[in-house]
Amino acid sequence: MCGIVGYIGNREAFPVLINGLRRLEYRGYDSAGIAFLDDGLKVVKKSGKVAVLEAACNNIKIASRIGIAHTRWATHGSPSDANAHPHISPNGKLAIVHNGIIENYASLKTALLSKGHVFTSETDTEVLIHLIEEVQERTGLDLAESVRLALHNVTGAYAIVIIDEDNPGRLIAARKGSPLVIGVGKNEYFVASDATPLIEYTKNIVYLNDNEIACVAYDGISIFNLDNIPQVPFVQELEMEIEMLEKGGYNHFMLKEIHEQAKSIRECMRGRVYPEQGKIALGGIASFDGLLKNAERIVIVACGTSWHAGLIGEYLIEKYARIPVEVEYASEFRYRDPVIRSNDLVIAISQSGETADTLSAIDLAKKMGAVVLGICNVVGSSVSRATDGGIYTHVGPEVGVASTKAFSGQVTVLTMLALYLAQLKETLSKEERSNCIHSLWKLPEFVEEALKCEDQVQRIAYGMLRSRNCIYLGRGCAFPVALEGALKLKEISYIHAEGYPAAEMKHGPIALIDEEMTVIFIATNHSYHEKIINNIQEVRARKGKVIAIVSNAGGEVAALSDEVVQIPHSDEFLLPILAAIPLQLLAYHVALIRGCNVDQPRNLAKSVTVE
Ligand code: F6R
Repeated sequence: MCGIVGYIGNREAFPVLINGLRRLEYRGYDSAGIAFLDDGLKVVKKSGKVAVLEAACNNIKIASRIGIAHTRWATHGSPSDANAHPHISPNGKLAIVHNGIIENYASLKTALLSKGHVFTSETDTEVLIHLIEEVQERTGLDLAESVRLALHNVTGAYAIVIIDEDNPGRLIAARKGSPLVIGVGKNEYFVASDATPLIEYTKNIVYLNDNEIACVAYDGISIFNLDNIPQVPFVQELEMEIEMLEKGGYNHFMLKEIHEQAKSIRECMRGRVYPEQGKIALGGIASFDGLLKNAERIVIVACGTSWHAGLIGEYLIEKYARIPVEVEYASEFRYRDPVIRSNDLVIAISQSGETADTLSAIDLAKKMGAVVLGICNVVGSSVSRATDGGIYTHVGPEVGVASTKAFSGQVTVLTMLALYLAQLKETLSKEERSNCIHSLWKLPEFVEEALKCEDQVQRIAYGMLRSRNCIYLGRGCAFPVALEGALKLKEISYIHAEGYPAAEMKHGPIALIDEEMTVIFIATNHSYHEKIINNIQEVRARKGKVIAIVSNAGGEVAALSDEVVQIPHSDEFLLPILAAIPLQLLAYHVALIRGCNVDQPRNLAKSVTVE
């Protein structure tokens, strides 16, 4: 949901800003803009991707060593040059980039209009910079102080960076609810929505906290909060390598990330799974062992793919640790007056750690007295800081907008968590637990094996080129996999797809089945074998085209299906991760064949920092 970058230092700002925008483009890509100070304030902004902005800057000489830039995912106002950021103040001296939503912008705008302000865009951001200039002119205070006072009148979420023609030696940054990090280099500073634009320049970063404002100058940073109390910047070292952000020979990040899964799952299990000792160790939550052991209920909150991972977690935790689990959309949980009891544990799952709905759900659960643990990929993200403890997935940066390796990392963490809870509560015998842990340890090998289906899946994808609708069906923990498969297909190929529990088909969706309908069965679970065969027969009887994902030779399922994709035969609890692999590949190849932008599907953004 919008990416912002700022730079001040001894190199030319333009390449830093443009490269930074490219790295942040996954957050939004409907328009982009840049502002810099070069003999006065200059702004270039364009509807379209960062490449369009870059082309527009081709003939402009930009030697500035300070600047801000933005890549947008539209909230207020359609994608257009006028609505693109940066926005400038009425006197033309201040420029702002903003990620988030100013919720009371309409009332602020009305008040400013009554004072004669004229707006050139439909955005909430332009209102904010007008407000800041208004405070500055009314009080005569310096910019940082004016920003602080103006922000007292603002409700909503923001990460902002401002440059000022009258003060060319500093950037002013502030955050509340939207992420912002400051990279600390040698006589240079970077400000960005996440660490990816900084990594090639510095590994030292400061995470700005909510309600903090930073003055970033050529020779240092100072931070104070909205109450004007100085804060000590806490510099942390980033554990990320630049190669993690490159495509590494693949055509798309999504394909690279699908193929990385054996490695990323290994990273996820490192130091946590001990097959020889039949033990799971989860350091990030060990201090909550008492609570985990006695939890009467676990409530999982998440969105999208992370929510699907949560549903798989529900099956695993209930099966192995016998703790009731409820999985909630964070966006529903936050508004529906949920019941949280004293022995409930809340777990928030988020790849980015910046999803606004999930952060609000965490906030609410904490206010209701719950301990909240996080399952998160991005180290230092807002979710990881808002929760009481947690488990990182450690799968490395995920750049493709469609989540793949983050999903398998989340399910791996939830599998470890289920076995860890079983270990604490002794709900499995030592032998049962040890067998599970041995199998889990082999998961990366199974993943490597499962990835070998790609050529076959690519061929199947050609057959789906003209499909308009698909149904994904599964039973047990193959049901959330069906949901995930359908989400992957629709988000990147724009083919309408729905996931259902296979047995629900007869309660409605069966009406859709005819020779035009492709039905994808996740027929991997050994325990539902006979039942799923019945469901396949129901589809065949109505001339639907059947693609089955199986985990053994296929037998009767193969005989009934138009296409059968085999994944390795393994313990049932590992099948959700393995079954998701052909579905990820299918979505990728269908989207590619249909000419869709796989890594940047329309209307989507990687971190959904608005509600
Ligand atoms: C789908 C996808 C989204 C995210 C959702 C939550 O491929 O990526 O559905 O899963 O927006 O994002 P996080 O996990 O970052 O909270």
